[in-house]
Amino acid sequence: MDEERARARIKDLVEIISHHDVKYYVEDDPEVTDHEYDRLMNELKALESEHPELVSPDSPTQRVSGRPVDEFPQVEHKVVMLSLDNCYSPDDLREFDSRVRKWLGEEPVEYVVEPKVDGLGIALLYEGGALVRGATRGDGRVGEDVTSNIRTVRSVPLKLKPEGGLRTVEVRGEVYMPSKGLQRLNEEREAEGEPVFANARNAAAGSIRQLDSRIAASRPLDAYFYTLSYSSGRMPETHHGCLDAMKASGLRVSPHTRVFGSVDEVLGHIASWESKRDGLGYDIDGMVVKVDSLAQQERLGYTAKNPRWAIAYKYPPKQKVTKLLNVVFQVGRTGALTPVARLEPVEIGGVTVSRATLHNEDELRRRGVMIGDMVLIERAGEVIPQVVRPLVERRTGGEREIVVPETCPVCGSTAVREDGESVRRCVNASCPAQVKERLTHYCSRGAMDIEGIGPALVDQLVDGGLVKDVSDLYGLRETDLLTLEGIGEKSARNILDAVKSSMDRDLGRVLHALGMRHVGRTTASLLAERFGSMDALKAASVDELSKVEGVGKVVAESVRDFMVDEGNRALLRRLSEAGLRMGGVPKADGPLVGKTFLFTGELKSMSRTDAGSAVESLGGRVGSSVTKATDYVVAGDDPGSKLEKAKKLKKAVLDEDAFLDLIGRR
Ligand code: IVH
Repeated sequence: MDEERARARIKDLVEIISHHDVKYYVEDDPEVTDHEYDRLMNELKALESEHPELVSPDSPTQRVSGRPVDEFPQVEHKVVMLSLDNCYSPDDLREFDSRVRKWLGEEPVEYVVEPKVDGLGIALLYEGGALVRGATRGDGRVGEDVTSNIRTVRSVPLKLKPEGGLRTVEVRGEVYMPSKGLQRLNEEREAEGEPVFANARNAAAGSIRQLDSRIAASRPLDAYFYTLSYSSGRMPETHHGCLDAMKASGLRVSPHTRVFGSVDEVLGHIASWESKRDGLGYDIDGMVVKVDSLAQQERLGYTAKNPRWAIAYKYPPKQKVTKLLNVVFQVGRTGALTPVARLEPVEIGGVTVSRATLHNEDELRRRGVMIGDMVLIERAGEVIPQVVRPLVERRTGGEREIVVPETCPVCGSTAVREDGESVRRCVNASCPAQVKERLTHYCSRGAMDIEGIGPALVDQLVDGGLVKDVSDLYGLRETDLLTLEGIGEKSARNILDAVKSSMDRDLGRVLHALGMRHVGRTTASLLAERFGSMDALKAASVDELSKVEGVGKVVAESVRDFMVDEGNRALLRRLSEAGLRMGGVPKADGPLVGKTFLFTGELKSMSRTDAGSAVESLGGRVGSSVTKATDYVVAGDDPGSKLEKAKKLKKAVLDEDAFLDLIGRR
């Protein structure tokens, strides 16, 4: 395409995709299928890679910069970012209302009530409609420039829609982590031996303050905007008018904002949300009440710290008292013994809680809990209940000390606590609990994606002596699986197919699947990208590893320790002998970017491994089962049940010749 036409098409695509981003991420009302969206995005990526000079900073392909920084530059806010005064009871709020009315000489007042989302306050600067800066609150006057991280939040528009009439503006809002995202992130972190986030606010703040924006990009963040703090154009007359203009500009504004004319109505609304807040899918810690008229806001002005025209009504924390029945120690993938409290079931915020984390041995001691204690339980971050403290005054004398085992509760080996660690670990790498956790992680969707092997089958495989480490998966035969309860011929074959497909996984996935401490999905991809092969990684020094962006000394040492360990080296050898490719990191560009292929049956002209490499070298991916994400199913001789599934799901099925055409080998 010549430059002029490419320029015009790129401009159109940026606009179309930005529109669909707002529909999908902001308004929750998508207009096109994921497939159509991917098609547009791939067209844009292809054009931009042909014409790099035409890439604009507000292109949707430019959310992640890929260049980590040493520290965040400081920025002075256009208007000081104050915080809100808090109140905790209807009487407090009535007092606020009286103060407001008195100050305004008893004239009519309307209030806007908004949820107070529990995240990290941010200020965004748009110039001429384009996002130029995103900053944290800092001390209110000076914050940190976290633009590269804010840009990775998909609901933050890189460009404002002209319909809203906002051009050069500063808006404020809250970046937060939805409860489901926090739960998933914490599960991943727990499996990787990383500390979990105590609540959604810490998780959001920790993510936005990552020096490597690729890590921020991998975190499930979202944002709501609630203040138009500066506009080069005419300001609306009311706060709700500002919210409307922001919404029309493509900024995500809470759908639960209401305007009321009296404090009683405001209180009724706040009370009705106290229980409803559990169903929101993200944490709110209260409601914010603001005077709607901007002229009245101006007359009310500010105290040294807070606006006089707004107040936060805080809900009480979600806490309950229940009995601590017992403490069990779970053994994780890295052998870590985690104390878990078993509780008399109690309902907190709409969820029945019967287990709570006690984090680790030190926390256990710090909180001073005993078995039999009545304990205060809190659901922090909506998802992980935790034991806050024992109610010492309610002790009866029958409580018992919690004994931290010195041996592994599963295999009986010594459990050692090393210097600088807050947990004891079972030293036996072949401990069945560790083996099971490692296997489950290896097969999980984010790792090798071996469909059909979950915790229940892993239990059977390990307990039945069929699998001692992940390499044994590749030696499984149908007859082995048929000895297990509940496994028939059909499921045995599906499992073996899934195991076989996993041999084609790229190096990043394999590294993640191996479960090295501190190496999550993002780090694994970065390592794979940089080193390209397992052999190169085995030979890498701590220094070389630390040069990878996002890899610090601790991570580098963990990788190095793993790679020099004789047992691990033998495991890698067995995996490679079993046929794992461990290579071919998908390229970030190429004609097949965004396309997922699935192979079924034998190909005549090449092995499936080579076919997979060909796809990946052109930027595509290879999947192990037919799913929504599959784009092409390549059917060779004797295709299995996957072909039927592909037809049922109306997937594009290619025969060998059509596939060879597509990859340009014919
Ligand atoms: S208005 C001048 N509205 O709560 C005060 N804040 O201390 C401007 N927050 O720092 C803040 N939801 O990070 C406002 N709907 C909302 C909010 C909200 C959450 C946060 C914000 C602020 C803190 C209040």
